Amino acid sequence: MEAQEIKIKSYITKYNNEKKALISILQDIQEEYNYLPQEALKIVSETLDIPLIDIVGVATFYRAFSLEPRGKHLITVCTGTACHVRGGPKILEKFEDMLNIKAGNTTPDAQFTLETVACLGCCAIGPVVVVDTNYYAQTTIRNVDSILKRHRKEEKENEAN
Ligand code: FES
Repeated sequence: MEAQEIKIKSYITKYNNEKKALISILQDIQEEYNYLPQEALKIVSETLDIPLIDIVGVATFYRAFSLEPRGKHLITVCTGTACHVRGGPKILEKFEDMLNIKAGNTTPDAQFTLETVACLGCCAIGPVVVVDTNYYAQTTIRNVDSILKRHRKEEKENEAN
């Protein structure tokens, strides 16, 4: 058995091979790899005897899961109506320029994935940007640089520790 297979199977046995634990198992895999590798989903499908298509259905339903490799940090720029009128599109453009990628993509160094969302439910504090679990309220294009620097710095500090 390959190392990856052993790891995936350990996530499944942690939940006693129970089908109802599918989401928890997918969460563990997502946390480990930053996305859900196809191979891992196949192992889950075979072990739990759940059709692969059903697992992919669950994986695409929840925003927390990704079938594509994601960067270490997920940047979500709200482009919903309230954030849009307060400059959301310009903020998105600034992130795209600074990261040199378009929304929906990941930087080549796998540090950042840039995504948009239609509304985060906190319109009063828009424009809103979320990086991982950090919310940035009333963002301006001038904040973009410092937001990126802050998360790059955290990265370096984590590496040093
Ligand atoms: S439109 Fe951006 S939080 Fe609602």
